[in-house]
Amino acid sequence: MKFKRRSLIAVGGAAAALGIAAIHLAEQRRPRGKIVLRFSHVVDPDTPKGKAAELFKSSLTEATGGDVNVQIFPNSTLYKDKEELEALQLGSVELIAPSLGKLGPLGLRDFEMFDLPFLFNDYAALHRVTRGPVGVDLMERLTPRGLLGLAFWDNGFKQVSANKPLIMPADFRGLRMRIQASEVLDSQMRALGAIPDQMALSEVLPALAAGVVDGTENPPSNFLTQRMYTVQKFMTKSDHGYLGYVVIANERFWRELPGDIRSAAVAALKKASALADAIAQSENDSALDRIASMGTTKILALPDDAKRSWKEALAVTYSEFRRRRMGSHLLDAVAAATGASLLG
Ligand code: LMR
Repeated sequence: MKFKRRSLIAVGGAAAALGIAAIHLAEQRRPRGKIVLRFSHVVDPDTPKGKAAELFKSSLTEATGGDVNVQIFPNSTLYKDKEELEALQLGSVELIAPSLGKLGPLGLRDFEMFDLPFLFNDYAALHRVTRGPVGVDLMERLTPRGLLGLAFWDNGFKQVSANKPLIMPADFRGLRMRIQASEVLDSQMRALGAIPDQMALSEVLPALAAGVVDGTENPPSNFLTQRMYTVQKFMTKSDHGYLGYVVIANERFWRELPGDIRSAAVAALKKASALADAIAQSENDSALDRIASMGTTKILALPDDAKRSWKEALAVTYSEFRRRRMGSHLLDAVAAATGASLLG
């Protein structure tokens, strides 16, 4: 190492030498074969995120000959929603993949943009945002918090459920609806006349069973695997909002990985991201079929006139968001990418 350092000073100057030496020292701190990468998430392994996480693990294990010991903790077994973000910042886990709006409480309110109702008509519109300059801009906002945004992973479009049919906004009046920790979702439920109740995913089933909340929203893959069909009599196929993920590493952990291991992790993540995005829609479609086949939750369509009423009621969520949260340049870029008509 001494030799390397001296020759670098000769070639590239002291600053470069110090930088590279720092990286080299950091690499020495992590002996090969002893790298543990803990990946905490809150959903079932049998979901788009769960399956992508497993592929990340098997790809990285194989590529490194087991030098990286990837440990996956699904279903909130290690940390719940808010805790996993804190754990990542503290270095108690190395990787998480929270849903996008859950970054809001960290002060990263712009990520709540993804929760805006009826913002994306389909995955293509979503990808124009996540895979374009807006996606890059959002990822950069993570760095000052010691976090490194690595990828967006798809899940799907949310449906609402309760023990009564939810068709017109008036049907929501007075219902307590579980939401993720997001001010946009809070505004959305209030605009529909419901009372929003933020809670971690792991608490939703018992809260629905006990009647602490009356209803909720999630893509079918989560509704099925969290067994919400056992406690909700009706689901409206509303597709009213999107739920997807950002894969985030503890920045220091990632930076200190030996270069070849980091490259292998990037490659493994690329495979996992491709899988998540490829299976998200079909997993949610088949989850919806399975929910229907259980016979405990009746699945209702949202007629066009009802959808128009939802959009009218929800316009206030957009104006609140524009006023409170976001640099309008970002919102304008999203509008341009999605062609969304609600961005008044
Ligand atoms: C939820 O809390 O409902 C979802 O964000 C869970 C998830 O990660 O899909």
